[in-house]
Amino acid sequence: MSEPFINVIFNEDCIIGMSKLPDNCVDLIIADPPYNLSKGGEWKWDNSAKLDGMGGNWNKVMQNWDDMPFEEYMQFTELWLMQAQRILKPTGSMWIFGTYHNIGIINVICQKIGIEIINEVIWYKRNAFPNLAGRRLTASHETMLWCNKGGKKREYYFDYEYSKESAFPEDGLKTAGKQMRTVWDIPNNKQSDESKYGKHPTQKPLRILDRMIRLSSKKDDLVMTPFSGSGSECVAAKLAERNYLGFELDKEYYDMSVVRLSNTELSRQMSLMDIL
Ligand SMILES: C[S@@+](CC[C@H](N)C(=O)[O-])C[C@H]1O[C@@H](n2cnc3c(N)ncnc32)[C@H](O)[C@@H]1O
Repeated sequence: MSEPFINVIFNEDCIIGMSKLPDNCVDLIIADPPYNLSKGGEWKWDNSAKLDGMGGNWNKVMQNWDDMPFEEYMQFTELWLMQAQRILKPTGSMWIFGTYHNIGIINVICQKIGIEIINEVIWYKRNAFPNLAGRRLTASHETMLWCNKGGKKREYYFDYEYSKESAFPEDGLKTAGKQMRTVWDIPNNKQSDESKYGKHPTQKPLRILDRMIRLSSKKDDLVMTPFSGSGSECVAAKLAERNYLGFELDKEYYDMSVVRLSNTELSRQMSLMDIL
């Protein structure tokens, strides 16, 4: 992998960006794609079907990038997953975020193109926003699929020791010495410096990304994120002493992520100094 692709975010469509990369070149992919839930009150995959839809108490992000017709979303999902599969090393793996709005589509397309799902993990958000209308249950989780590129051999890296021995003060479901389960109890709030450089409507907390990175990559590995948004996955990779590579279509988020990344080393040094 040539140097220009390391520790950089490109303001570019990820399908085009990934197509320029060689086969089998990244160690870990963390993908937080559009969930396609920006439908306002008019949620219908297909107007002809007259479905009532999948509303709920989701914080609809109301962005154009999160609102595609059904067929287009299927095609988009297949295209980016095919590129991700191609560039992922056989020893690598991929985490994909979603909710019921899109995770079924991602699951089916993974199976269709031969990406193997290792685990489905539930991110339990115990501080989730209540359901104000009182017409359905309070949505309190997101889903992550942990996958490898597929094929006969299962060569993906997994730090079993980290998974077993680690404990997390905020996670009531995990204690040191017990195997990690597929339900992670991680509050959705962020530390103050995570939103210091601007806000993104679907920003992920660093602590969930850090857990994925430590479970499934090694120091100096290359972590790629196709939808980098405010840069959280890249920041988490940098803090964990991995290399990063990101793609982000929106110029405003791209600019925010570049500033955030350039300040990341500084904040790490400052927090280390605080500890010492
Ligand atoms: C769910 S958000 C990711 C947020 C990110 N995890 C964070 O913590 O900031 C998805 C992002 O993908 C971007 N996006 C949408 N389509 C894209 C594409 N084809 N290529 C690259 N980025 C895209 C959107 O602009 C949005 O910022």
